[in-house]
Amino acid sequence: MRAVDIIIKKRDRQELSREEIEYFVQAYAGGDIPDYQASAWAMAVLLNGMTARETTDLTLAIAHSGETLDLTGVVPVAVDKHSTGGVGDKTTLVVEPIVAACGLPVGKMSGRGLGFSGGTLDKMESIPGFRTDLSTEEFLEQLRTQGLVLTGQSAELAPADGKLYALRDVTGTVQSIPLIASSVMSKKIASGAQAIVLDVKVGNGAFMQTLDEAHKLAELMVSIATLAGRRAVALLSDMNQPLGQAVGNALEVKEAIDTLHGGGPKDFQMHCLVVASHLLVLGGKAADEAEGQAMALQALGSGEAWKRFRTLVMTQGGDVSFIDHPEKLPAARLVEAVCAGRSGFLSMVNAREVGETSVLLGAGRATKEDLIDHAVGIIVHHKVGDWVADGQPLFTVHANRADLLQAALERLSGAVAWSDTPVAELPLFYDVIR
Ligand code: URA
Repeated sequence: MRAVDIIIKKRDRQELSREEIEYFVQAYAGGDIPDYQASAWAMAVLLNGMTARETTDLTLAIAHSGETLDLTGVVPVAVDKHSTGGVGDKTTLVVEPIVAACGLPVGKMSGRGLGFSGGTLDKMESIPGFRTDLSTEEFLEQLRTQGLVLTGQSAELAPADGKLYALRDVTGTVQSIPLIASSVMSKKIASGAQAIVLDVKVGNGAFMQTLDEAHKLAELMVSIATLAGRRAVALLSDMNQPLGQAVGNALEVKEAIDTLHGGGPKDFQMHCLVVASHLLVLGGKAADEAEGQAMALQALGSGEAWKRFRTLVMTQGGDVSFIDHPEKLPAARLVEAVCAGRSGFLSMVNAREVGETSVLLGAGRATKEDLIDHAVGIIVHHKVGDWVADGQPLFTVHANRADLLQAALERLSGAVAWSDTPVAELPLFYDVIR
């Protein structure tokens, strides 16, 4: 087989066979297909799509590009959650310790920032020393002894996703239902979780812009999970405005720490409680979501979830003095607010604009080799529906370069819209797909 023929076939809108998909994934993971051919192929998939059969084959090929873990002998049931990517989405940092504190083991393989959306690994690496490259042995041992692991794709687990993910980030090929579904589900299948909650973001700050697209992605991922013998639930959650207030790696870690201490923005706290409750139900710890939420709240209130997060950081080599004293986390040199130029009700806080501005400041990557600036980002002070007085801060920009600060201030002043009459709050969730 030749990579170029497979690219041409997809360019010409034909269906790829399982053998062609497996060949392409294996050869790319093994270094026999170069990045330029893989990016042409990814663009052809983005433009022409894939059938459900092709997407399932792609998912399994990526999952089998490395080891696949069977956790049944390690813990009675392991759960996991995965977000399809949003702005200010630091949910994993709070939900996974909550769920672990409720007695459900969590083995999670996370990703890096993708396009305008942030990534859990980049956030956690704001904590000096925190390792996101655990070996399979370390993953299993930590899951068994601590009941909580948070790592990235390694050379051993779904390595093809690691390569494709980084490539898609910088080649405009993120926003594709088959590529997102296979990326998310291959990691979940490889890392062995038996019960998975998928947080499918929808809105201008998500890869799925409409509820219709989000439904398609959610249904596809749930059906892939079922085919792979896993239990999955997909939540369709709002991403028309950033989640919580903090956007940017260290800023988001600080907000997650506040939330683990029982504070944090109300929308973010509620989002975490709902996601945690679904995990607790799916993992058999709670009879229904109401019981799951009560358990999650208890895990936050008792400090148990915070303790689990602290142990996670320590076990994976992170310096806990940085989370015990979050003021030690990387901080930007230049901090300046964008203030309201009028009074009124906010009718839009554009999550996409905020996410792209955060990438522009250095919180995300423009090329695969780019280094992240963990300190930079944006604090979003208001939600859609809030009444804001003239002169009040809308955003606070944290920057390390004066030119980027100026660019961010200008861009963010156009990221809101106003109404003279009251505006309804945005919902946190739209639907649940089982
Ligand atoms: N999360 C992933 O792991 N992959 C994607 O493609 C998008 C979000």
